Amino acid sequence: MKFFVDTANLDDIREVNDLGILDGVTTNPSLMAKEGIKGHDNILKHYQTICEIVKGDVSAEVISTDLDGMLNDAELLADIAPNIVVKIPMIKEGLKAIKILTSREIKTNCTLVFSAGQAILAAKAGATYISPFLGRLDDISRDGIQLVEQLVQIFNMHAYKTEILAASIRSPMHIIQCAEIGADVVTCPPDSILKLLNHPLTDIGLKNFLADYNKSQA
Ligand code: G3P
Repeated sequence: MKFFVDTANLDDIREVNDLGILDGVTTNPSLMAKEGIKGHDNILKHYQTICEIVKGDVSAEVISTDLDGMLNDAELLADIAPNIVVKIPMIKEGLKAIKILTSREIKTNCTLVFSAGQAILAAKAGATYISPFLGRLDDISRDGIQLVEQLVQIFNMHAYKTEILAASIRSPMHIIQCAEIGADVVTCPPDSILKLLNHPLTDIGLKNFLADYNKSQA
């Protein structure tokens, strides 16, 4: 399972990248706004900086909702770096855009996916990734993990090449559950990845090992 980090914060991206386990980054307009990145040119520059830090795929989202606008946005974003993946919303015009961008060999990530039907359509259109939003389904008392499980089954059965990128991850447990059910990618807030490192028995064990070593040196 690939690990992406879901943030536009450069320090956080560097911190997770330095662990040596990072495969990519996803962003969205809300995450860019959270970092205070304002203005079209600054946004493109910020994506460029992220692409310089991380070798893997970096998802950058279109802001148009009509077909021509999305295609223009996509071309601009794809020109930033070879590892840009254009994030397209799951709407009718978005589906058309994915089909066209795929024929132009531009990678796409179909975002805001909340049902198997939406995921199947995006896969048929040739999306590189589809992003089911687990946490937001959980927020409305639906089971996000169950959707990912259903998608893994359908995509395996039909040998779809599209990768299932589990998004809107809220906790380390979500990450482990995604690994158990066979998601191709998880995109996570940095702290959810870092929390996977922690175990109290590791801390106690290390403390005791070092104490015993120090005793042997006395
Ligand atoms: O990648 C999509 C993700 O950023 C959405 O997460 O926490 O806003 O639901 P959240």
